[in-house]
Amino acid sequence: MKIVIAPDPELRRVCDPVEPGDSSVIRTAKQMAKVMYRNSGCGLAAPQVGIHKRFIVFDCDVENEEPTPTLLINPEIVDHGDEIIRSGEGCLSIPGLTLEIPRWDAVKVTGLDENFEEVVFEAEGNLLCRCLQHEIDHLNGMTMFERLDPLARIAALREYQYALEHGARPGDVEVHA
Ligand code: NI
Repeated sequence: MKIVIAPDPELRRVCDPVEPGDSSVIRTAKQMAKVMYRNSGCGLAAPQVGIHKRFIVFDCDVENEEPTPTLLINPEIVDHGDEIIRSGEGCLSIPGLTLEIPRWDAVKVTGLDENFEEVVFEAEGNLLCRCLQHEIDHLNGMTMFERLDPLARIAALREYQYALEHGARPGDVEVHA
């Protein structure tokens, strides 16, 4: 299982909903969690490993040293706060960069768990809040670059070009020249 790296057009595809009971998702999610931990990520969306289905894995529990990955199938933001917060964000598909990305301060996300039972996540002002929005963007074919205004995007793409030329790998949050 390999991480798809931007600007691969695979990352810009809108993913299809997971069919109820599609057990391949459970197997794939286990592998995805391994890839996520191995590369020091806190979230990974299926299209980042070349699968165009709507599911994500994440582990935003920074207090807990034990890996506790969560699988969320067909996630959807059903409600959000009133404010936008900008903060530094990385992506395993965009190695070597940390970008200031605007996100909702709070979100309510629904979806299905590994038993295909409905779950709800409410997150406010924390890593989970940001991670959920980031990973759901991936399912809609959006990377961090598409969240930036045109000028910031040009600067970020230039920085990214530099990072790639200097051998940035998934999990790198900056480039040491
Ligand atoms: Ni990402």
